[in-house]
Amino acid sequence: MPEYRYTRRRAARRGGGEGMTVGHAVRRCAAMPAHASVLPKKRSCATRILTFYIGKYTGMPPYCWRIEAGNDGERGMRFASTQIICFANQKGGCGKTSSAVSLAAAFAELSYKVCVIDVDPQCNASESFGVTQDLIDRERYFTLADVYLKKTKAIEVCIDLGERFGGNLSIIPAHRGLGSVGPRLEAEMQAAIANSDEHSILDADDIRTEQRVRLARSAESLRGEFDIVIIDTPPDLGFLMTTALIASDWLIIPVFPSGYDLKGLELLTRTVEKVRQRYNPKLRLAGVLLGNFDKSAKLDTQIHDMLKRKFGPALVFETTISRSVRHREATINGLTIFEHARDQLPSEQYLQLVKELIRRGQKALGGSYSPADGNGSLSEVANG
Ligand SMILES: Nc1ncnc2c1ncn2[C@@H]1O[C@H](COP(=O)(O)OP(=O)(O)O)[C@@H](O)[C@H]1O
Ligand SMILES: [Mg+2]
Repeated sequence: MPEYRYTRRRAARRGGGEGMTVGHAVRRCAAMPAHASVLPKKRSCATRILTFYIGKYTGMPPYCWRIEAGNDGERGMRFASTQIICFANQKGGCGKTSSAVSLAAAFAELSYKVCVIDVDPQCNASESFGVTQDLIDRERYFTLADVYLKKTKAIEVCIDLGERFGGNLSIIPAHRGLGSVGPRLEAEMQAAIANSDEHSILDADDIRTEQRVRLARSAESLRGEFDIVIIDTPPDLGFLMTTALIASDWLIIPVFPSGYDLKGLELLTRTVEKVRQRYNPKLRLAGVLLGNFDKSAKLDTQIHDMLKRKFGPALVFETTISRSVRHREATINGLTIFEHARDQLPSEQYLQLVKELIRRGQKALGGSYSPADGNGSLSEVANG
């Protein structure tokens, strides 16, 4: 059973959450382990004056001053600003979840502060980190559904996974009911228009836009708290995927070397282009990531070369993730690849990917970098 840590502050805040009594929240605070990351319960006058002046001169919100007893103190961010990366491909089984989870673990391994947002109602990423639906129900954790339905700030939904990842990894868990959030918001919008004197049918687009940007607004609260936020998405191009693309700075497209996987890329990039035009012009393609790759198979190497020829090396990761039974074993055991196959090729490749990603990010931030740029169109690749 993984160990979870809350700041007392965050746990106390949850006391106001729906369905949780203040007594429940207080009991949970009291039950937290002694080494949990806490603000002193009773702050002395000196601490209060100190925190006031730190806040005044740094502009940091109070939760940045977490005191980590038993640790070296606040670890702090290593990037100058938070980068939000979304893994998206409407094809199922192409490595979105395993690469999102493994990349997050790789960043955490290198002591970056990472938050994973699980936007998929299948909850696979949440379960990889031991946050099951049972645990969520039992502990009454907030989930991503609260972000969409109650506009809760992402930082309040975050679960710190504690010592399992050296205090560097947090998760915003999905909920099995997430799939119905889009239709539910649409129905609420229709009802509001039908029953209200304040809205006309012409307001429908504005209301839909506000619903689509809810994740992005909520995720703003993570900026300055984490180096990297990684979003895992569902296998379709619906409401949830759109909100994830709107919330992101970067997109990684994971593909397995099969014709079916490549064919969907054209539709995906058209969707990305629309999101860029309408909602999020700063969304950039970080790269296409080839997983389940067998370098001894001629076809796999040809597909990698073809992707690079068509898009230019800037848009296809040089790092590939080799086909290995270790990934499936890790998935089945609910572990990350670093816990299951430490110091072996599958985890080494994700460390390599982090380095390549950082290199590319630094380079790309210097100039304009669009998913549509490159030497060829995605349809050419899809059609071979
Ligand atoms: N490099 C790899 N080699 C072998 N199997 C892999 C590899 N990467 C992922 N898998 C397996 O492929 C399956 C689908 O991956 P997953 O990440 O769940 O895809 P998605 O999230 O796109 O549906 C999982 O069982 C996973 O363990
Ligand atoms: Mg998945």
